[in-house]
Amino acid sequence: MVTLEMSGFCINQNKSIKNAMRLIDRTGLRIAFLIDDKKRLVGVITDGDIRRELLKGLNLESCVKEIMNKDPFIIKEEWDETEINKFLKTKRVSRNIPKHDFRRIPVLDKNNRIVDIIFASKDGFESYTKSQLKTVTKKRKIKHINRVLVVGGAGYLGSILCRKLLEKGYLVRVLDNLTYGDHGIKDLYKNPKFEFIEGDMRDIQTVVDCVKDVGAVIHLAAIVGDPASALDPEETIEINYFGTRMIAEICKYSQINRFIFASTCSVYGASPTPDTKIKEESQLNPVSLYAEMKLKSEQGILELVDENFSPTILRMSTLYGLSPRMRFDLVVNTLTIKALMENEFTIFGGGQWRPNLHVSDAADAYIKCLESPIENIGGEIFNVGSNDENYKIIEIGETIKDDLPQINMKIDETKIDERNYNVSFDKIEKQLEYITHFTVKDGVEEIKKAVENGDFTDYTNHKYNNYAFLQNNNLQVDIE
Ligand SMILES: NC(=O)c1ccc[n+]([C@@H]2O[C@H](COP(=O)([O-])OP(=O)(O)OC[C@H]3O[C@@H](n4cnc5c(N)ncnc54)[C@H](O)[C@@H]3O)[C@@H](O)[C@H]2O)c1
Repeated sequence: MVTLEMSGFCINQNKSIKNAMRLIDRTGLRIAFLIDDKKRLVGVITDGDIRRELLKGLNLESCVKEIMNKDPFIIKEEWDETEINKFLKTKRVSRNIPKHDFRRIPVLDKNNRIVDIIFASKDGFESYTKSQLKTVTKKRKIKHINRVLVVGGAGYLGSILCRKLLEKGYLVRVLDNLTYGDHGIKDLYKNPKFEFIEGDMRDIQTVVDCVKDVGAVIHLAAIVGDPASALDPEETIEINYFGTRMIAEICKYSQINRFIFASTCSVYGASPTPDTKIKEESQLNPVSLYAEMKLKSEQGILELVDENFSPTILRMSTLYGLSPRMRFDLVVNTLTIKALMENEFTIFGGGQWRPNLHVSDAADAYIKCLESPIENIGGEIFNVGSNDENYKIIEIGETIKDDLPQINMKIDETKIDERNYNVSFDKIEKQLEYITHFTVKDGVEEIKKAVENGDFTDYTNHKYNNYAFLQNNNLQVDIE
């Protein structure tokens, strides 16, 4: 008797590859069991098989039986634990059990109907019905995604995110052209679960190679920040917009349906009603090429949404905090380092609202999206931050001064940043149960401790400032 839960992992062999992929994305099992009209198992197909075949030219609408594995490993219902272990240890099976993953093997009754799924790893096996998959996935032993590609993973946010993904057991591949060097990731080269590909995300062939065997793509690469993006507008348009569209298209074609894009609350720009909290559907007023390209990219990505392709747009607050690829061109970090090293800083204007987010909390938002059911995040835009961390710039200055009372806080009313947005984070809190763990005060404290430890004696080095670095022709790049 096939249980309802088991039938949720099965699909008729006459359905399309697109249907099979949708089932795989929805169950999170990374495999679909193909059955005939009598519900007997006739083959299996994995997400990896589908993606490989698509790149060989197969049409997404083709019948899934054309590419299914007709001779999969199977376990018989009547086998006891010893017999299962004996089978898993046979040469033929054991060499096909991956190193950092599980192999999903169907358990069949006498009529060839699925009654259970065995998750076999190098360390043994777990049964679906005994362990109840949902509990197992919650404990994160079994992942619905194995390998993640982080484009721009060597940057300020990427180098934190990669570490968190590795800690959680993901295989991480980074594509980055190391614009600012490899300080952020060089410690990871020796980690067997980490793979680095140096290359330009504008290059189609590079991207096609990088997406092979990945289950999700997180796209962070960009020329980041208003001043840096204004230096070479053509390059910014190529990387931040054309490149982004191209990567999203490649993912859609390859059925990498979880695609998470790093956007920014800067798309709200000069809000006409800055004292009212801005929601995802509020008016957008980008005031820089950087924000305009993020907005166009968001639109380009969302145009690609269909029943399968399920991208997510994360409009992040301005980040702060320590990262192995440190940036001192972000408001909290800049004011803090100036306060610590020069005993003074200048606030321009000060009345503008700005939401702030610790870089570690930002990384958690990407992981939250990776681990949420695809139907909860597909085609969605989320503001990322905390309702408690919207501050006027002057308040950020005051928070730093509270910690370092001896400093001189100057205010310059002549140069005022037009960006002014006070953002609501209700949607991400409610829909994804996302909460942040750090405050601006924590960020100031951690930078203070790092400086006390003797880090950042070279804080004026251009490598900490995207604009200064790019303007000075990348002369100080330091790659090991
Ligand atoms: N830092 C923030 O406050 C903030 C706020 C909102 C959104 N974001 C977005 O988050 C993402 C990450 O920002 P970050 O602060 O880590 O920036 P970053 O400048 O530290 O990192 C960007 C990374 O992209 C890489 N890159 C640039 N062009 C590339 C190319 N052509 N090919 C391959 N790699 C390339 C760079 O080498 C770098 O490692 C960006 O998309 C940014 O727009 C950042």
